[in-house]
Amino acid sequence: MALFSKRTHTCGALRSEDIGTRVTLNGWVDVRRDLGGVIFIDIRDRYGKTQVVFNPQRHAGAHQLAKDLRNEFVIAVSGVVEKRPEGTENPEIPTGMVDVLADDVQILSKADTPPFPIDDSVDASEDLRLKYRYLDLRRPVLQHNLMFRHRLYQVVHRYFDERGFVEIETPILMKSTPEGARDYLVPSRVHRGKFYALPQSPQTYKQILMVSGFDRYMQIVKCFRDEDLRADRQPEFTQIDVEMSFVDESDIRDLTEGLMRIIFKELKGIDLTLPLPSFTFKEAMEQYGSDKPDIRFGLKLGCVNELVKDCGFKIFSEGVKKGGTVAGFVVPGGASFTRNQMDNLVDFTKSLGAGGLVYAKWTENGLESPSEKFLGKDLLERIMVHLGGSKGDLALLVSDTWTKTYTILGTLRLEMARRLNLIDESKIGLLWVREFPLLEYSEEDKRFVAVHHPFTSPHPDDIGLLESDTARARARAYDLVLNGTEVAGGSIRIHDQTLQKQMFSLMGIGEEEAMTKFGFLLSAFRFGAPPHGGIAFGFDRLTMLLTGMKSIRDVMAFPKTASAVSLMDEAPSEVDDKQLRELHIRTV
Ligand code: AMO
Repeated sequence: MALFSKRTHTCGALRSEDIGTRVTLNGWVDVRRDLGGVIFIDIRDRYGKTQVVFNPQRHAGAHQLAKDLRNEFVIAVSGVVEKRPEGTENPEIPTGMVDVLADDVQILSKADTPPFPIDDSVDASEDLRLKYRYLDLRRPVLQHNLMFRHRLYQVVHRYFDERGFVEIETPILMKSTPEGARDYLVPSRVHRGKFYALPQSPQTYKQILMVSGFDRYMQIVKCFRDEDLRADRQPEFTQIDVEMSFVDESDIRDLTEGLMRIIFKELKGIDLTLPLPSFTFKEAMEQYGSDKPDIRFGLKLGCVNELVKDCGFKIFSEGVKKGGTVAGFVVPGGASFTRNQMDNLVDFTKSLGAGGLVYAKWTENGLESPSEKFLGKDLLERIMVHLGGSKGDLALLVSDTWTKTYTILGTLRLEMARRLNLIDESKIGLLWVREFPLLEYSEEDKRFVAVHHPFTSPHPDDIGLLESDTARARARAYDLVLNGTEVAGGSIRIHDQTLQKQMFSLMGIGEEEAMTKFGFLLSAFRFGAPPHGGIAFGFDRLTMLLTGMKSIRDVMAFPKTASAVSLMDEAPSEVDDKQLRELHIRTV
């Protein structure tokens, strides 16, 4: 026999057609209003809310019990569905035409007063919400986000299954992969002094699966990186990981674009225009000052080296002669900025590491600039016109190395867009960035390091540059960018062990070290490695952007704080001495 009255319907199910039906609902007390005689409660579950009425004239016993109900109590309530009285209907919710006249109620579980109200307008601090995450997760917005996330899993799995991909699980306890971030380590009890690493990604395994002949692999997989956290980064996050054999960039592009088309169509009702725009890394930097450009607004950058290379303003002309770059962009209508606003922009630009910010306003009196006496009105006007400006506009210019000039301008461009509210949130800025540099020099390590990872293939036209002009060699790597955030990255891999060894040696990884770290991959390559390539999508980031959230934590059930703490279960925590002894670990 059931110990409580089991539900006949969910709290989101009842409609006008159900009027007169006897029902039982199970759920949480959302709100309770005691209007003198009659008590109203809304009962809530993940499907919706239903209004329940306790009328002392009709069912005195149930009404008496309802006096004890409080918010978040779990109850079973039985009664008959009735039409709401004229004028009290709520067209905003699907059950808003009816209520349930209760004749019985059971308290299944009592609840303490929650530390914050369970609704979307909650202004409790995020720390408090994370501590009581189980309550936070009852809020409609988080329920919606996790349901959305669930639907995204299904669309993704179906898409890859229909195209012959095999989902294969790869180990969580593995040997460390060199992907740039710090590893999370797990000490081995059995092998004293040895450690497993949690995967930063299953990169090496998926390449080995290609050697094993699986041809098309995918996996929705957890990855772990001990790195500084931001709004779009978590120490453990989920990837849609993909690898394919006998492919080039165009195959990965078509597969990815097809996936994006279906995701946007099925989950957002939006028809994407394909193919997506595609920029080389160089184009992205020179036009937007970023390798993940937000193209939902203008403020495009332009280089003015040719105009300023012989001018009398030394910072510009000397800069160009030394191989640097003078570039900038125009802010439409910016001539009206006050002195204060300009001082603030100059300070902001300097805080980014710029020597300064040169600016010019095109006012009623022509070109005006603090640098006017060095540059002259005539040159300022030519610069302004070259950058696409006209009367009423403001031009902002920076002079530094190519990388610094564009990086600084890219940040300044985003800042201006935010300040002037230029970002159209209804637009979708989905695009490719490709041909990244293969290696970059790390001042910290005093050696070249892989920009993507060490298994990425060099661009075939740049093999000759590998030894002679290493920093200029391009990679067969690509990123997918959505609204200024990198949502996926991948590459065509090296499948030739000689080239792979050359790459290791360029990165200062000797033969012995290479064998110790990646011997298994190099050996696998000795036994017939197909040409292969792949991509991995940041599943959480994608969900965040598709649901319009500003933080990745809002689309994960149990995220960690910026200092990598789980406030609910208090991980990481101390462990007892016995555990440490078994693991041969001593803490200091
Ligand atoms: P990459 O390191 O570019 O590539 O990662 C792929 C995508 O994963 C997401 N991502 C993250 N999301 C949340 N928190 C993080 N800390 C985090 N780090 C990365 C990003 C990123 O685009 N093995 C390669 C892929 C490949 O070459 O196939 C890799 O992991 O959205």
